[in-house]
Amino acid sequence: MLLTAFLKEGTAALEPLYPVREARSLLLMLCEAQLGVQRHTPILEPSYEIPAGRLPSLWDALERLKKGEPVQYVLGFSDFLGRRFRVSPAVLIPRPETEQLVTAAVEILRGLPRGARVLDLCTGSGCIAWSLALEVPGTSVVGADISQEALQVARGQEFPLEAGAQAPVFVQADVLAPEQPFSFGPFDLVVSNPPYILEREKVWMRPNVLDYEPSLALFVPDSDPLLFYRAVAAWSSRLLVPGGTGLVEINETLGAPTAELFASAGFSPVRQMKDFFDKDRFVGFRKSAF
Ligand SMILES: C[S@@+](CC[C@H](N)C(=O)[O-])C[C@H]1O[C@@H](n2cnc3c(N)ncnc32)[C@H](O)[C@@H]1O
Repeated sequence: MLLTAFLKEGTAALEPLYPVREARSLLLMLCEAQLGVQRHTPILEPSYEIPAGRLPSLWDALERLKKGEPVQYVLGFSDFLGRRFRVSPAVLIPRPETEQLVTAAVEILRGLPRGARVLDLCTGSGCIAWSLALEVPGTSVVGADISQEALQVARGQEFPLEAGAQAPVFVQADVLAPEQPFSFGPFDLVVSNPPYILEREKVWMRPNVLDYEPSLALFVPDSDPLLFYRAVAAWSSRLLVPGGTGLVEINETLGAPTAELFASAGFSPVRQMKDFFDKDRFVGFRKSAF
């Protein structure tokens, strides 16, 4: 079968779910990953024939896409800040906003002496933990998550370690129990992208997120939307060095109350920051140096 024919048929099959350009782009990602072709192959080589042996797995993948499964789960990877992370339905697919969190955290780490220690609460795929460990060699990172399946994914990421870079350590912990025994720390930086979507916000979400991404990673009760941030504040009070910094990703509708929570917990200064879409998306805070 010609690649162009597969793309045409696949695009038509995905049209009920995705706009045409997005459908074609998903199929091109699939073909790049499974056939090793390039995005421009169908244009530059319109006679490119898909090897017959490759067709069954392409059709399988198309069936999964037709059911609404996110392409990253179908492919088994997601790109994040220039690196390819393994993902499975046990972990959230890393989001572009979180790349911004990591970029800000890298800036903080570059301003610290080499060998800084970082705690990543609710680590999921480990995309934050690994990116920090690799971007700033010498940094030691501990990633914590309650989900053993997620930790397995985080531990299974494979990246070459440049000179001085250390792989993060991933541990199981219930972030909502900040007083539990924890044999790591202190830390110079605490980062977290915890669950922060309200149950009532489900109505605005795409079905492929709701049906496929782990609800453990996404939702908090409407009655207590900041519970993870209270816990992050407690972990940070306990484990940050004096003068240490915290950085969290937040629900865009809860910027002011989240910032207020960290201020009330005694952190100062506390700063709200926007994402690329000008939405309140991050809060940074500092533990007093005394
Ligand atoms: C929003 S996802 C973030 C994953 C990853 N840090 C990222 O940015 O892509 C939240 C993560 O919190 C974890 N989680 C949920 N409840 C938790 C708890 N009580 N303690 C620790 N981790 C928890 C989920 O398993 C999920 O991996």
